[in-house]
Amino acid sequence: AIHLEGRHFLKELDFTAEEFRGLVDLAAELKAAKRAGTEVQRLRGRNIVLIFEKSSTRTRCSFEVAAADQGASTTYLDPSGSHIGSKESAKDTARVLGRMFDAIEFRGDGQDIVEELAAHAGVPVYNGLTDDWHPTQMLADVLTMKEHSDKPLEALSFAYLGDARFNMGNSYLVTGALLGMDVRIVAPKAYWPAEEVVAQAHRAAAVSGARITLTEDVAEGVRGADFVATDVWVSMGEPAEVWDERIKALAPYAVTMDVLRATGNPGVKFLHCLPAFHDLGTKVAREIHERHGLTELEVSDEVFESEHSVVFDEAENRMHTIKAVMVATLTGVTAGGSTASV
Ligand code: CP
Ligand code: NVA
Repeated sequence: AIHLEGRHFLKELDFTAEEFRGLVDLAAELKAAKRAGTEVQRLRGRNIVLIFEKSSTRTRCSFEVAAADQGASTTYLDPSGSHIGSKESAKDTARVLGRMFDAIEFRGDGQDIVEELAAHAGVPVYNGLTDDWHPTQMLADVLTMKEHSDKPLEALSFAYLGDARFNMGNSYLVTGALLGMDVRIVAPKAYWPAEEVVAQAHRAAAVSGARITLTEDVAEGVRGADFVATDVWVSMGEPAEVWDERIKALAPYAVTMDVLRATGNPGVKFLHCLPAFHDLGTKVAREIHERHGLTELEVSDEVFESEHSVVFDEAENRMHTIKAVMVATLTGVTAGGSTASV
């Protein structure tokens, strides 16, 4: 049996495959219950604080809606809305917030900060994205993969193309490894995950039977893939100057219809954590267009808008999976027990 009450949610490899799958299964149950109008509120009277040192649409709204659905309250601290990191240390902040709240979500740069909060809060701490990992996103992606494939997780293959030495690339690699999947990282070598992350993935794969491939070759990397995923080429917190080198290095790894065709799988699905650059719909995209003449970056608009694309299911699933993390860590309820009334 899985025991998640009181646990933090800081990175994927803190969990066993069974625990991780259990959270995904719980999310699926909570999603079905919400649709059916039978959701049971298990977090009534709980208070959750959301610290965001970087901006967010999905993650913030997921925590707020999930908490509201479950009867909990949230307090949102924006990048300038608290003393954390400027006038007050993470350690002191954790001890203060831990006295008032039942759980703490943190989004920022350093994994060390969220780990420091967890060490001192006395309540569950959730990683809402750091430079190293994006674990709540992985729960949503795995739920989305399950919904869009009949295969068991261990039979699924996915290829991640693009900048793989940051949160999304790292998280995909270790999540695929943890769950026994066929995971391919497809990028120029300079953009592969750090050696230490690759080593962790190999250790997890030795337990799960996962197959791990790191390759610079797009055709080889995507062959037979059930899912193709990518992420922005410049992440939050990186300077705008890196766009030039990123575009030069990563342009061959853009997800186009040719890439999807190269999978040889007509049913291949496309994943993107979002936000995405695929048209001129944003100010940043228009600036890039002015400087580089490009209207599409990591994914073509054709792919993004195609029937292969499941990105909005993936975005919705952020909410159901984040709800599962809160319910499991604050009440101990696991899949199978979520629909029983209190
Ligand atoms: N995918 C994701 O984390 O989105 P937000 O930055 O909008 O939270
Ligand atoms: N790699 C991206 C993910 C955004 C959800 C970033 O860190 O900005």
